[in-house]
Amino acid sequence: MPGSDGRLSVSLVDLIEGHEQEFWVLASEFEVVLVQKEYGVARMIPDEASPRRYYAVRHWVDAAAAERCHADPDVQALTSRLYRVARVTHVVNGVRRADPMRLLLDNRRSTHVEADRRTGFDRRIRNLGSPTGQERRQNRERRLGPRRLRDRPGAVDLVGAARRAREHADAAFSRFKVGAALEAADGTVISGCNIENATYGLTICAERVAMFKAISEGHRMFTRIAIVADTEAPTPPCGACRQILWEFGGDLEIQLANLTAAKGTYRLKDLLPLPFDARLL
Ligand code: THU
Repeated sequence: MPGSDGRLSVSLVDLIEGHEQEFWVLASEFEVVLVQKEYGVARMIPDEASPRRYYAVRHWVDAAAAERCHADPDVQALTSRLYRVARVTHVVNGVRRADPMRLLLDNRRSTHVEADRRTGFDRRIRNLGSPTGQERRQNRERRLGPRRLRDRPGAVDLVGAARRAREHADAAFSRFKVGAALEAADGTVISGCNIENATYGLTICAERVAMFKAISEGHRMFTRIAIVADTEAPTPPCGACRQILWEFGGDLEIQLANLTAAKGTYRLKDLLPLPFDARLL
């Protein structure tokens, strides 16, 4: 049914545990609506490497059909129910015209993305062989990249990565060290810490360091960020960081933690209601 211009939208869907049943009902309702109203066809493809991660693929009849679908109240109702049971990251937008520069960038990026253990690659710098008894006792990390969480295979310990990044903070003036770890849609984790200097005003927060590092390395899609400080009360991103995270990362999941405990999970759209961004220019 899709037209010859073959417009495709793809979203990354991370299902919240315990909502499987509702999710599949929604997915099939969505498939039916798309066909019935002649918008296109939809499929939910599971990611074999990550449990509860799916790719929602929509193949539109044409760009106008995709636009009509997005404006359709029935579809909007389904989508808002989906948002309650899953974290959704839009990866490919079939309505927006293809941007040749962006495609060029993404093509270049694919050759630079580092192999990650999530995809089954070993991230050791070189083959170090088996650890010796002494190395084991010292408990030294021999691998590059983020650790996996033991109880959730495939998931990255983002808070752990932020805690390690915090150790590099250069906060000679405020003594307030912050670490951040940003997860790109391909699973890569990019860390950041705050860096201060004698002018005070040129200070940069951990979150912006992480985001700018990620952008400079070619990443363009993000799912989550963890932010860690050594305080009892959580450290949410400052206003400037919320703006930058929004413009480059969209509605990220934000995990706040201190050195020993998680302190809450938020969505960026709730921390930055009524955002200003390029859509308003
Ligand atoms: N800071 C961050 O890095 N992230 C935040 O979310 C809040 C504040 C830094 C900026 C400055 O170096 C220090 O914390 C004190 O404001």
